[in-house]
Amino acid sequence: MKAEILNLKKEKNAVILAHYYTPSDVQELADYVGDSFYLAKVAQQTKADIIVFCGVRFMGESAKILNPDKKVLMPDISADCPMAHMVSDGLIEEMRRTYDDLAVVCYINSTTELKRKSDVCVTSSNAVKIVKALPNKNIFFIPDYNLGSFVKKQVPEKNIILNSGFCPIHAKIKAEQLYKALEKHPNAMVLAHPECEQEVLVEADFIGSTADIIRYAEESCSYEFIICTEDGVDFKLTSDNPKKKFYYPEPRPCCADMKLNTLEGVLSVLKKENNEILISDDVIRTALQPLKKMLELVR
Ligand code: 13P
Ligand code: SF4
Repeated sequence: MKAEILNLKKEKNAVILAHYYTPSDVQELADYVGDSFYLAKVAQQTKADIIVFCGVRFMGESAKILNPDKKVLMPDISADCPMAHMVSDGLIEEMRRTYDDLAVVCYINSTTELKRKSDVCVTSSNAVKIVKALPNKNIFFIPDYNLGSFVKKQVPEKNIILNSGFCPIHAKIKAEQLYKALEKHPNAMVLAHPECEQEVLVEADFIGSTADIIRYAEESCSYEFIICTEDGVDFKLTSDNPKKKFYYPEPRPCCADMKLNTLEGVLSVLKKENNEILISDDVIRTALQPLKKMLELVR
């Protein structure tokens, strides 16, 4: 199957992008593996004709918006991020009516419709930097409450209004589970994703995106880590650091949508060129603005 995928990829000038939460065999075969921000940049710059995006829907849609001339295919088009939908109807308009200098800051884990209503997108790796760089005092941060709270703590000079969205996978990681893991591994450092709840984040030695967590673990002189994020990162962590030990809160956090990306699915979309992300030119034009602004502000 792997050989068939590689042949088709060459024949069709396709590139395979995969998020760190996808299954190990998909990460192993992909051309680029990374966090949401890295994958968005790769999608924007690729010269391939076809992008096979192994991730969830908002990631495939962002790739299409950033590079509309390319065909973007997903191994399973039903792979979705529940948090991406978690902003109540009319709330953005209501906030805009309340504050005249408001910036709507949209975590990239959001639907294309939400992006269109926003001023700038952010990812977990650049949210603090971007919010700091905005001239606006009033910020409405959507959809994630936990990432929004993390940013609020780092940027106290702004009035950051939070929304109640959350990641159901990270929300299941509770402080008690972390304490149990720490009892078993008292010397381990705690590395957490900012989508975790505050009770977990206060115990963390480091908070960052999936790529930041992987980088931190690699550069750290410690040998033991408790990882508070989805367990797909384990593939990269253990293959790059064979002498280090990585533990997870139990039960191990697992995003079922990310795991819908299989090698069978990759092969099938490469063969049939189905499961294509289709977005009208009009929608692409408006949704591109906040994504472009994110890339500009980070630069
Ligand atoms: P990263 O940008 O850190 O990879 O996060 C994406 C995500 O979906 C986290 O749950
Ligand atoms: Fe969405 Fe959470 Fe899955 Fe990330 S881990 S894709 S935020 S449901």
